[in-house]
Amino acid sequence: MIIAIDGPAASGKGTLARKLAARFGLPHLDTGLLYRATARALLDADQPLDNAAAAVAAARGLALTEFEEQRLRGREMGEAASVVAAIPAVRETLVEAQRRFARRIGGAVLDGRDIGTVICPEADAKIFVTASPQMRAQRRALELARSGEDVSFNEVLADILRRDERDSSRAVAPLRAAPDAALLDTTALDIAGAFTAALALVEAARARLHATD
Ligand code: CDP
Ligand code: CDP
Repeated sequence: MIIAIDGPAASGKGTLARKLAARFGLPHLDTGLLYRATARALLDADQPLDNAAAAVAAARGLALTEFEEQRLRGREMGEAASVVAAIPAVRETLVEAQRRFARRIGGAVLDGRDIGTVICPEADAKIFVTASPQMRAQRRALELARSGEDVSFNEVLADILRRDERDSSRAVAPLRAAPDAALLDTTALDIAGAFTAALALVEAARARLHATD
């Protein structure tokens, strides 16, 4: 069973993907980390983020197991990741590794922006997670404060709106719900409530899958 979770920044997709993976005993890939790690490698090498050749080389050089997540989670890295993620050749370089991860025996859970549309259009369950920009900014600001980054609500909201716009308007694999994805608005849901709703959607997809066995 392949579960595809997409949505904008701080909608809660990563939390849901982790919890669904634990529930079904499936491996989980946070695909945002691939773009964050590509951007990190460029910044570490003093390369501009829009240098396509250097970005492709950085993406090729990624080892999926070697993420230093702490260095990739900060505010600056979300923004940098979305700049390199708009380079078509970078996306092309990262497609195969994501598909291999998804197609392992038994299945997988992947979360990102283009899992249901580009990486796994054949996924058994697709959920597009949303929440109001204000709620997402509130969640992200809290998260950043916990990790020691003191950023105001308004700055985080501006970051999120800019990133939404860039991710939605790029030419290749823009942030978009697949036509067959279920929409899950988590604005008024806490983590437990969002998980209950997501679980019901996945169970329904599983029932359909077994019905066609
Ligand atoms: O992966 P994504 O950026 O979409 O979001 P996340 O990392 O799952 O969630 C962002 C923050 O919001 C985390 O600190 C979550 O604990 C929190 N969250 C929440 O408060 N309520 C939800 N329904 C989902 C997430
Ligand atoms: O957790 P949050 O949603 O803030 O960020 P993320 O999922 O780690 O993604 C960071 C950036 O990587 C996004 O703003 C996208 O530009 C890009 N990304 C993408 O283009 N495609 C994906 N499948 C995952 C992330």
